Amino acid sequence: MNSRIHYTKPSITELEISYANDAATNGWGEKCYEYIHRFEGAFKTHLGSAFAISTSSCTGALHMGMAALGISPGDEVIMADTNWVATASPIVHLGATPVFVDILEDTWCLDPELVERAITPRTKAIVATHIYGNLCDMESLLAISEQHGIPIIEDAAEAIGSEYRGRRAGTMGRFGTFSFHGSKTITTGEGGMFVTDDPELYEEVLTLSNHGRAKSQTKQFWPDKVGFKYKMSNIQAAIGCAQMERVDELIGKKLEILAAYQAFARDIPEITCNPIQSNTVNGAWMPSYVFDRDTGITREILADAFKARNIDARVFFSPLSSTPPFDAVPGNVTAWSIPERSINLPSYHDMTDSDIDRVIQVVIDAMATRR
Ligand SMILES: Cc1ncc(COP(=O)(O)O)c(C=O)c1O
Repeated sequence: MNSRIHYTKPSITELEISYANDAATNGWGEKCYEYIHRFEGAFKTHLGSAFAISTSSCTGALHMGMAALGISPGDEVIMADTNWVATASPIVHLGATPVFVDILEDTWCLDPELVERAITPRTKAIVATHIYGNLCDMESLLAISEQHGIPIIEDAAEAIGSEYRGRRAGTMGRFGTFSFHGSKTITTGEGGMFVTDDPELYEEVLTLSNHGRAKSQTKQFWPDKVGFKYKMSNIQAAIGCAQMERVDELIGKKLEILAAYQAFARDIPEITCNPIQSNTVNGAWMPSYVFDRDTGITREILADAFKARNIDARVFFSPLSSTPPFDAVPGNVTAWSIPERSINLPSYHDMTDSDIDRVIQVVIDAMATRR
């Protein structure tokens, strides 16, 4: 049988190994924050943002940022129904309610018109998740934000490398968050980043991230408020430093893979791939195909076909409103329909052209058997 094609796999070279080794050997005592500060610096430079705080996960970064915005019981936070639960769970932990709105057919991201309609006096924030690296319509969302005085949070967990009109994903809202989970384009095993240009928000999240101890506090073991413990370790940050030295190469390979999948889909009107929007760069974290309803191709058919060829197939996110923790919103028809007839495609740095051909061949064969 052909070797297995994973849906994702990190690219770890001698550089990552040597930095992690150095952090484990020498990164203690006075040096215990060296790689952390270096990683935050490299990340800020890459994004062009003023402040960055590394965290143990993107979920933790979202939780602290939302807490710093004052999201609390009784508040509502608008977000796309198509999302990973990690975006919704911090809202729930803060006692607020996620309000799920439908997505656009082409970007699979928030529909701004529906966002505007969902605003109530309780709306405290809007989360713009750049799903799979596709970009939200930031122009419309930022206009809504300004008009109603409601902050935009950018969940850029999946969007390193994505750019909107020359600005990197994660830098346009009140704050942005990133994930370095092992499946992501840049990884530290587990990990995340909080970024903002707002000095006060930065100070507040810095305090929250250090068990509520303000940077200016001189007393030892003296919390100024109850905070969180969502820190990244120096060893993880060392791996992150090496990844950031390779960031252009790592993103570049993801773009190449998406371009190959897009090239195939371009000739087949019944398949929609991640969009190429004008004046944007899609960071290409997760290439996906959505099949028109009349092809009769379903997620189950695709999953079986990929499995039979020893290829991982990951399902498109189910709408959160269809899952047990939340109330159903079947009126979000696009978010409810797309997952039934779509599939995430393998994409990782060491993937070869022949691996990509093998994936595409499964799709060709599935289409042929349905015709
Ligand atoms: C859109 C989105 N938001 C948040 C997260 C949470 O990231 P983490 O696993 O680093 O907490 C993920 C993780 O995959 C994600 O896809």
